[in-house]
Amino acid sequence: MTRKANQHSLVMPVRLLFVALLLAGPSFAQTDLNGYWDLQQPSPDGNVRHTYFQLSLSGETLTGKLFGRNPGGIPLNGTYTAGHLHFATVPPSSIAGSPIGTGSTAAPMVYEGTYSEGKLRLEWHRYEGQVVTGTAVRSTKEAAAPPPPLPLPPLHDLPDNGLVRTPPMGWNSWNKFAGRITDADVRAMADAMVSSGMNNVGYVYINIDDTWEAGRDAQGNIQTNKKFPDMKALADYVHSKGLKIGIYSSPGPLTCAGYTASFGHEEQDAKTFAAWGIDYLKYDLCSARAIYEITEPNQQGLYQKMGEALEHSGRPMVYSLCQYGLTDVWTWGTKVGGNLWRTTGDIRDTWDSMDKIGFSQIAISSYTRPGHWNDPDMLEIGNGGMNADEYRTHMSLWSMLAAPLIAGNDLRSMSDETKSILMNKEVIAIDQDPAAKAVQTLSVNGQMETLTRILADGSLIVGVFNRGATAMPAALPWSSLPAGYSEKRLAVRDLWTHETVARNGAQYNESVPAHGVRLLRIEAAQ
Ligand code: GLA
Repeated sequence: MTRKANQHSLVMPVRLLFVALLLAGPSFAQTDLNGYWDLQQPSPDGNVRHTYFQLSLSGETLTGKLFGRNPGGIPLNGTYTAGHLHFATVPPSSIAGSPIGTGSTAAPMVYEGTYSEGKLRLEWHRYEGQVVTGTAVRSTKEAAAPPPPLPLPPLHDLPDNGLVRTPPMGWNSWNKFAGRITDADVRAMADAMVSSGMNNVGYVYINIDDTWEAGRDAQGNIQTNKKFPDMKALADYVHSKGLKIGIYSSPGPLTCAGYTASFGHEEQDAKTFAAWGIDYLKYDLCSARAIYEITEPNQQGLYQKMGEALEHSGRPMVYSLCQYGLTDVWTWGTKVGGNLWRTTGDIRDTWDSMDKIGFSQIAISSYTRPGHWNDPDMLEIGNGGMNADEYRTHMSLWSMLAAPLIAGNDLRSMSDETKSILMNKEVIAIDQDPAAKAVQTLSVNGQMETLTRILADGSLIVGVFNRGATAMPAALPWSSLPAGYSEKRLAVRDLWTHETVARNGAQYNESVPAHGVRLLRIEAAQ
């Protein structure tokens, strides 16, 4: 082999490598995407939200995981082409272990952005209609991993706190305001609850949902962020209106929106809430799912821990469990001190969501009893995604289920129709009936579903629901009513038209609007 040949044999591979790199273009930088990323999103409330990713690139195909509240992370996939990334989470079709619900994680999170100088600049939709941006920097597997579990208490039954003998009624910030809720909005809702007269028909709780939190001070006390400058003053204001105030936290280190939560600080946080004058706590599983396997003992342990902390706090607080119905919470919610427990994933302001959630609840209706309520999530009435017939169905169904009536709309700008739905006293009376008897299915004929419930005074509520998209006659034979209620002489009242119903003929045959309801009250036989 000549010297020249030798030289040639060395130079050629280097040249070839150079040409290959040029041809491959952006792929030279592609391998840099592999690994762990910390997506940092500064918020005007002063918090920086961290979301951790692991990315792997093969050709133009991106795969990986998003770490947060799901054990092992949520898978994601997408593409990387010429410096541009596009990827989305692949949500589980339902939350494992929940027979009824699909969770808020069911919606894919879609991220778009660019990669340059070792950073990812990303844009994504955080809440409906809210586009947010952030920058991701390199991170590590350790940073992305959830903390190790803390011990859970030995299980025992907690005493009943004696609160909410009828389903809680009030308002919550999440459905309308999500992460935008501020101190000023909460005060305005308290004002509107009184000026609209909602307080006179039973609504009393003004509940702040997620995104009030900041970090902790040197002593570990949870802090409020810039949107809530003085929680004690806010509570005093709400109380001055004759109302009560609720707050939100989670058993994991982070809330669902990624804010500081109560992991390892349960007793301290409960005392802080008590000192602020809080009357109600919604406690949302979220990131604890990434730390503790979803088993009934773990779920009970997590919720008992805060239940005990509330018991020791020195202030009565309604305890609202939010873990989307996992491990049949309705069978053990009372034991951990729960006054109400979410039975499903998050409601949305659509017919499909409300219909699916509402009618899935009848089977577990018998678990509800004074002080301890199934919670099929907050009301969407007045938020605009359903029509008035659909909202009347929402109100009627929730009331027949003895569900908490927690409005989720902007109380400052309610139409007369919205007010007439949220403030229908005759319907609220069903919800608030002290006997809290279970709802029963009388008949299902195609899309027509007829439910009944007996009230404390012996009267019978009959809800003829039309789940179909065209108006239908009720076609309800009077003789099909339970024994004692089919007698012709008993007065029947329509609770939406507020009129007496004539008992002509063998059946009740009024038309029921598409997605609508006829809600009747039949007096008890003497
Ligand atoms: C979960 C809950 C919602 C709401 C949000 C806040 O999705 O189910 O009701 O509290 O978290 O982040």
